[in-house]
Amino acid sequence: MSRDAQRPDTVAAVDVQALEAEAQHAIAAASTLDELEAARVRFLGRKSELKQALRAVRDRESGMALNALRERLEAAFDAREEELERAVLEAALAEEAVDVTLPGARFPRGHLHPITLIRRIVEDAFVGLGYHVRYDREVETEEYNFDKLAFPAWHAARSPRDTFFLTGGRLLRTETSPSQIFELEEREPPIYMVSIGRVYRRDAITPTRYPIFHQFEGLAVDRGITLADLKGTLRHVMRALYGDERQVRFRTHYFPFTEPSIEPDVSCGICGGRGCPTCKFTGWIEMGGAGMVDPQVFENVGVDPEEWSGFAFGCGLERSAQLRYDIEHIRPMWEGDLRVVRQF
Ligand code: PHE
Repeated sequence: MSRDAQRPDTVAAVDVQALEAEAQHAIAAASTLDELEAARVRFLGRKSELKQALRAVRDRESGMALNALRERLEAAFDAREEELERAVLEAALAEEAVDVTLPGARFPRGHLHPITLIRRIVEDAFVGLGYHVRYDREVETEEYNFDKLAFPAWHAARSPRDTFFLTGGRLLRTETSPSQIFELEEREPPIYMVSIGRVYRRDAITPTRYPIFHQFEGLAVDRGITLADLKGTLRHVMRALYGDERQVRFRTHYFPFTEPSIEPDVSCGICGGRGCPTCKFTGWIEMGGAGMVDPQVFENVGVDPEEWSGFAFGCGLERSAQLRYDIEHIRPMWEGDLRVVRQF
């Protein structure tokens, strides 16, 4: 340490005024906290001119002058630091400002499958008529799928070419009609039930056929039930499904478990009745089968056909969805393609 550094009149070789001016200028010029910190190290750090002078000082007067400068500079640094911190905060607040009036981020909602939508419409329509809903097993016996429904031995549906047979005499039910038998065996008439579920057939895929599909099956058993009740009920459900615009017609048909049997058709909404591949160029789409419960079926389950009469019907849910939403082909309903499902 030189003698000069200890001389009080030169305040340890530091020009207090010049140093202060230089430091104050650097403090004011610092535009970020980093820059300010660098200036602080430069003017107040351990190796700074001021700190070195303070360490070297020997007289009281220079000591007081240097300490006073140190205090002024510390205060100036603190003030500037506070200023810069506030600026950073204000910038962040301005930038990240939340406009509470903007709509929030949407939570993606799921979509009901068209088959589910149709099932619910059907359920609502029948519950409104006083029917109760049941769901039965999909693996069936020949007894319940065919025998008790009075299928003759020669009926084509009994062939493995039409029906998926499993081991042990079981099969995948080909229709929801076994529910008629369960219902008749389980409870006494009057009966008003609808059964909904999957059925299976060895069909080639066409615009309206698929090896798996859903049916809804109705059964009404009471005193004095006639074909007029059946037609009225079917028209009511068709209106619930398709509105008033579509036409409904009934053709005679054959089913082993109904007599007489009919098939309800609904006018094709895809072509407006002019004819297209979906309606096989007839202008009509077949809804399923129906008819008055055959007395043989009543006898098979021990219900007196002299006292009770009833009707039954079975319709495809997919076909109903096709008719309601004008879906040209049944296949997309079983492919799980979200582009299809999202349209409903
Ligand atoms: N089970 C018949 C079918 O799948 C439809 C039907 C049900 C017909 C009830 C008459 C009565 O084709």
